[in-house]
Amino acid sequence: MNSFTPPLPIVSFSGIGKRFAVAGGELEAIRAFDLDIADGESIALLGSSGCGKSTLLRLLIGLDTEFDGEIRIDGKAVRGIGSERGIVFQEHRLFPWLTVEQNIDLGQVNEKLTSAERTRRIEQLIQLVGLDGFQHAYPHQLSGGMAQRVAIARGLVASPRILLLDEPFGALDALTRQQMQEELLAIRARAGITSLLVTHDVEEAIFVADRVVVMAPRPGRIKRIVSIDLPHPRNRNGYEFNRLREELLFELTGDGDYQAPPPRIENLPLDRLAY
Ligand SMILES: Nc1ncnc2c1ncn2[C@@H]1O[C@H](COP(=O)(O)OP(=O)(O)O)[C@@H](O)[C@H]1O
Ligand SMILES: [Mg+2]
Repeated sequence: MNSFTPPLPIVSFSGIGKRFAVAGGELEAIRAFDLDIADGESIALLGSSGCGKSTLLRLLIGLDTEFDGEIRIDGKAVRGIGSERGIVFQEHRLFPWLTVEQNIDLGQVNEKLTSAERTRRIEQLIQLVGLDGFQHAYPHQLSGGMAQRVAIARGLVASPRILLLDEPFGALDALTRQQMQEELLAIRARAGITSLLVTHDVEEAIFVADRVVVMAPRPGRIKRIVSIDLPHPRNRNGYEFNRLREELLFELTGDGDYQAPPPRIENLPLDRLAY
C-alpha cells in the first residue's frame, strides 16, 4: 500500500496562549496561536506594535517557558534555548571590543567543534553574508547594514534549523533596509534555511515571505494567513504587489472583510509598464 506521510514541520505552534501578570491583573498577550512552518519556508509575522510578535519569538527561542500549548521543533517540544534556533534582533547586539570574526564565533560557543572547524565555519559565514575583508574590523567600523550582516552570520554559524529575525532592519534607513531585504533572500537561498521574520512593515513582509501571518492585537492572535505567490525577485511597484499591499494594510487596520478591487482591464499596452 502506498501511504503518504506529510513531512514533519520544522516548527509547530499549537494552541499557544500567554498571559503576563501586570499591576491590577493579567494581560492576555497571545491567544490560541497555531502555526506550522515547513522546511525551507519564509514566514513573515506581521502586526502592529504590541500584538505579541516578540513574545511569540521569545517563547520559540525558549527564553520564556511559562505558556499554554506546545511549541515543537522537528517534532520535539521546546525546552529552553538551543542551537537549532538562530536569532537576529533589531539592534545588532555585537560586542564592541570583539572583531567581526570573534563576534560571529560567539554563535558557536556551545558547539563541539575543533578550533579549525570553528575558523572554517566563520570563514564560510563571512563569505555567505558578503563581508569578505572585514574579518578583523570592529563593530564601530561597520555601517548599520554591515553590522546586521554580522548578526545574521552569528545567527547562522551554529547551523540552526530556523533563523528567527525580530524587526531586524527596523533601525536602518529606507534604502539600506531594502538592500538588506534582498540580501536576506540571497542568504536564505545560499544557506537553504527556513526563516521566521517579525515585522510591522507590510512591504517587507510581501517582499520576503512565502506566507504572511497577519496578527491582530489585544489579545495577540492570527487574523489571516496570506500566501504570496509572486516569483522572485519581486517588483515592489508591480500591480499584484500593490494589490497585496492594499489587502494586508486593510487586514492590519480595517474592520470587516477585505473587498478585492474589480478586475483590471487587460491588454492595455500601458499595462505592461506596471511590471
Ligand atoms: N514581560 C512582560 N510583562 C508584562 N507585559 C508584557 C511583557 N512582555 C510583553 N508584554 C505585553 O505583551 C504585549 C505584546 O508585547 P510584544 O510581544 O512585545 O509585542 P510586539 O513585539 O508585537 O510589539 C504588549 O501589550 C506588551 O506590553
Ligand atoms: Mg516586538
